[in-house]
Amino acid sequence: MSMNYPQYRPRRLRRSESLRRMVRETRLSVDSLVYPLFVAAGSRLRRPIPSLPGQYHWSPDTVVEEARRAYELGIPAVLLFGLPERKDPMGESAADPNGPVQRAVANIKEACPDLVVITDVCLCEYTDHGHCGLVEDGKIVNDATLDVLARVALSHAEAGADIVAPSDMMDGRVGAIREALDEEGWEDVAIMSYAAKYASAFYGPFREAAGSAPQFGDRRSYQMDPPNVREALREIELDINEGADIVMVKPALAYLDVIYRVRQAFDHPVAAYNVSGEYVMVKTAAAQGLLDERRAVLELLTGIRRAGADIIITYHAPDIAQWLREG
Ligand code: PBG
Repeated sequence: MSMNYPQYRPRRLRRSESLRRMVRETRLSVDSLVYPLFVAAGSRLRRPIPSLPGQYHWSPDTVVEEARRAYELGIPAVLLFGLPERKDPMGESAADPNGPVQRAVANIKEACPDLVVITDVCLCEYTDHGHCGLVEDGKIVNDATLDVLARVALSHAEAGADIVAPSDMMDGRVGAIREALDEEGWEDVAIMSYAAKYASAFYGPFREAAGSAPQFGDRRSYQMDPPNVREALREIELDINEGADIVMVKPALAYLDVIYRVRQAFDHPVAAYNVSGEYVMVKTAAAQGLLDERRAVLELLTGIRRAGADIIITYHAPDIAQWLREG
């Protein structure tokens, strides 16, 4: 069937908001959102994060209030990052049962049992060198790191986490974590793997917020090279075979084709991380009056959904929930 003007006039279905609403192909819903939160050691903390306008450092007591606010806005899940009191070469404090993340998980699950609590599993916030794995002779070593990551994931499960999310990009970590969880009876704890995580400039504001910038070198020996998409499919397949329940592409906006390809090739839930640099670009432009923040955020997030993401991790989550409510 050919569609020719003047028989076919696409503008007919754009005449009113009700018509547009009816034929809309992609819907953004609060159900897809995950809200990242930064938890520091201490108490009664609500400290604005300079590199992430509108975001705060919370302590394990105060983060409960923010998590509750998210839950009441209908956001199904939060993702926790930790800022520990001490750092060392091995990232020992990452598995501390009294660490900020572990305490925050327990507090949030007690106050809001229905809110899904996801924890970031990585060493970069806990190591003094700022790398996501252990370092030997100036190199980031893979296999020795797996054991530490598995212990970190276990400590999160023991605190009550529903999902652990390894973001380190070591090979084999999903399998190592799955095995450790199952051995200890945590077979119901799910794994959301940062499966295709690229070495990106857009993590800059996060590293300042989390104090996790590498002290030497960069992350290019473990995070993916931005030009590659077929490699992303191999990474995703590996993680699924090792037991990942949800697979993530990160960042989102410069990688919409990757999200699309992953969605086409696999049936697992796909998450996309709308990272700190992407958030800050919009916030900065909006603060200068150059963009309508609400329209820009909803357009970008709808684009991530249209590319095929089921789940979107975003610092805009509470604002979006509010805007969607207002309709
Ligand atoms: C830790 C981690 C990072 C992010 C999430 N987990 C930073 C990095 O890999 O350097 C970035 C999140 C963001 O930029 O919003 N490995």
